[in-house]
Amino acid sequence: PAPIIRTLPELRAATAPWQRAGETIGVVPTMGALHDGHLSLVEAAKRSCDRVIVTIFVNPKQFNNPDDLKNYPRTEEEDARKLARFSVDALYVPDADQIYPDRFATTVSVAGLTDVMEGAHRPGHFDGVATVVTKLFLQSAATDAFFGEKDFQQLQVVRRMAADLDIPITVHGCPTIREIDGLAMASRNLLLSDRARTLAPRLHEEMETLAQGVASGGAFDALQRAAIERLEKTGFTGVDYLEIRANDDLSLIDRPDRPARLFAAAWLAGVRLIDNIAV
Ligand code: PAJ
Repeated sequence: PAPIIRTLPELRAATAPWQRAGETIGVVPTMGALHDGHLSLVEAAKRSCDRVIVTIFVNPKQFNNPDDLKNYPRTEEEDARKLARFSVDALYVPDADQIYPDRFATTVSVAGLTDVMEGAHRPGHFDGVATVVTKLFLQSAATDAFFGEKDFQQLQVVRRMAADLDIPITVHGCPTIREIDGLAMASRNLLLSDRARTLAPRLHEEMETLAQGVASGGAFDALQRAAIERLEKTGFTGVDYLEIRANDDLSLIDRPDRPARLFAAAWLAGVRLIDNIAV
């Protein structure tokens, strides 16, 4: 199994010889409760990098809701076991003070891309993400980073941040891994009751229906309204958004005349599910 590293000096001691040897270093930032979506990023990193560091840090700064932070699944031992077969070079599980020492005072904030969707519904969330990802990039000295399209807005925010701050790292986007029934894998799926778990795939089903409707010339507004109604009848208690946006600048469009995705966030039994698909 990979050695677990909990402090920055130890991480630097591990990466220094790799850097000296001119090796590529891939980093896979996670908050743990690892599932096959996370592991697909580890595989992608293993394929393209000489060295791979997986990080696990449940970042308090990106949680806008204290209960969400408290309830977030933490399964470190099982995570380490799941990673064993990938022979990653390091598992970095920083102590909180390695990321946010006393008197920490800096925030990385990406404008524009964060005004909509997750940024609009989760105040402060992307400041927390951009700040911790900046630190993880700099701490790990990675040449490459691997993120899931599951969190497509996050992927674009991280790309913007790395480019704007001249952090010399290539950000790779990897496809969303789904359960057999279509539900996008997510650590928070562990929080769904058995009953809610059977309903959860309806979100992705409605998204596929909506995307097909738009592709065959249907009016977006009517299709959107019908999809939201069906979801609410199924047991979803609110749809935060269900909209088509351009991949590059996340601007709202109702006819995909350039690379675009259908994005959704919806509440089911107290759990907030997000997903997106290409349209
Ligand atoms: P977390 O939700 O643990 O996700 C870690 C990475 O796994 C992210 O890049 C996410 O997009 C990817 N991922 C999650 N579910 C996936 C799926 N079903 N298929 C493919 N990739 C998937 O995202 C975060 O943590 C945090 O915001 C983080 C970037 C670690 C900063 O704290």
